[in-house]
Amino acid sequence: MKLKHLVLATLAPTLLVSGIAYAQFKKPEDAIKYRQSAFTVMANSFGKIGAVVKGEAPFNKDEVAKNAAVVATISSLPWQAFGPGTEGGNALPEVWSDNAKFKAASEKMQLAVANLNTAAQSGDQDAIKKAFGAAGATCKGCHDDFKKK
Ligand code: HEC
Repeated sequence: MKLKHLVLATLAPTLLVSGIAYAQFKKPEDAIKYRQSAFTVMANSFGKIGAVVKGEAPFNKDEVAKNAAVVATISSLPWQAFGPGTEGGNALPEVWSDNAKFKAASEKMQLAVANLNTAAQSGDQDAIKKAFGAAGATCKGCHDDFKKK
């Protein structure tokens, strides 16, 4: 096998996998719609946990665990839709001009919702409450700096 073919044969499956793992967008509006949808789905499950934490809904361990798993899974998705040239929506220009800070805030949030998920799977209500508060603070922190009011 020639080297060129070997490289192609090795590379092709990688490209295929990354094509599936990372969404690609034809137009900036598509990226904006994608990230807003991801946030909406995530916030829906996050809010259901919030209602339980605030005592507005009864504690059901399986429901909380399911919602926390959804939040943790979706939390990795919005960021790929903030690429160059996708300015707009309700995102402030600082997302792109101060991208390192934005990225750090997104990583902080993913860590916080992973902790929430761990607490939720254990069913420990005190731990869930604490982890929910910490996760919520990471949402607010980023929105204060990077999202239009
Ligand atoms: C690292 C920054 C960051 C973090 C962390 C973050 N968000 Fe956001 N969020 C944004 C930005 C920026 C937008 C605006 C996106 C747009 O309109 O293009 C947004 C938009 C939203 C929206 C509105 C979606 C729509 O339909 O317009 C909701 C709801 C939301 N976020 C919920 C959350 C929740 C819940 C969390 C925490 C679990 C969270 N976000 C964490 C940056 C963040």
